[in-house]
Amino acid sequence: MLQNTRNLFKTTRIQKRNAGYAVPRTTRFLSGKHVLSTEQFTRDNLEEMCNIAAFMQKSVETQGVLNLCSDKYSANLFYEPSTRTMGSFHTAMGRLGGQTLPIYTEFSSVKKGETLEDTIRVIQNFVDVIIMRHPEIGSVAQAASVSSVPVINAGDGANEHPTQALLDLYCMYAERGSIDGLTIAMVGDLKYGRTVHSLSKLLSHYNVKLKFVSPLELKMPSEITSQLAKKNTKFEECIDLSKEMHTCDVVYMTRVQKERFPILEDYNKVKDMFIMDEKMMSFGKSNMMLMHPLPRINEITVDVDNDPRSKYFLQPKYGMFMRMAILAAVLGKI
Ligand code: NCD
Repeated sequence: MLQNTRNLFKTTRIQKRNAGYAVPRTTRFLSGKHVLSTEQFTRDNLEEMCNIAAFMQKSVETQGVLNLCSDKYSANLFYEPSTRTMGSFHTAMGRLGGQTLPIYTEFSSVKKGETLEDTIRVIQNFVDVIIMRHPEIGSVAQAASVSSVPVINAGDGANEHPTQALLDLYCMYAERGSIDGLTIAMVGDLKYGRTVHSLSKLLSHYNVKLKFVSPLELKMPSEITSQLAKKNTKFEECIDLSKEMHTCDVVYMTRVQKERFPILEDYNKVKDMFIMDEKMMSFGKSNMMLMHPLPRINEITVDVDNDPRSKYFLQPKYGMFMRMAILAAVLGKI
């Protein structure tokens, strides 16, 4: 059972290691593995990852930097724009005492026509883990299939973003104490938004109620809703956010993914359909959490930023701790 972060270090069985660090007991299920999809995690795995992230948080808050991975290197290989994911993986590795090789794909041999496979065959010689983002669905799995070192999916097109889902889960757990019993709305572009695909699959391990609020053109893909149905996860599809607000414990807004629309006109038709503003927030519970993976464009107005229920600028902080947990686990250090 997952413990509340406040009590974590009192109640978790711990072992002393690395002269002074008290690390949580783990099963090492992720050691040496690729992280490609949220489908590879069981509920026990998820709770273990949140416990490790809480340990990382506590360690950073007391020590700043650990030396768990001081003999390790990671590579950031991003073929799509990124601020949070790339930045938090980079700093996560640094706070573990390791180092990062940033590959600037704009200026790399990719531009000369090198294949993805060849790029991976080269980079694997330099580093112990590769963190990769790419616009094509399945590309990260393709890279992993030729890699001798673990590859972490930092977003493959409109498919998945498993590390974002893990950090979102940790954020909910840390802010709310538990996940079971929550009603969680996902709002906006549920068709192309990879964050909500991964998050829905993770939440299917919990006793939650999901509300998918989107324009008809941007509904949650049927592959995902049928997986949820098979697992008896309660979900409903809705189009009027104002009617759902009073029932939600978490409202997870998303950006309409302009870059994935084949026709710009179709994007323009739906881009302003769901906007969270002060009026919409007034329909919400007093203890609800407003989340967003960011970047936001106009789907949350800036006047909502100071509402204590807004958690979207806290998510990246939890993200760094969860990414420390993922890196240390994949590298077999915890
Ligand atoms: C998301 C992504 O890249 O899918 N960003 C992120 O990693 N925090 C969301 C988005 O781009 O809209």
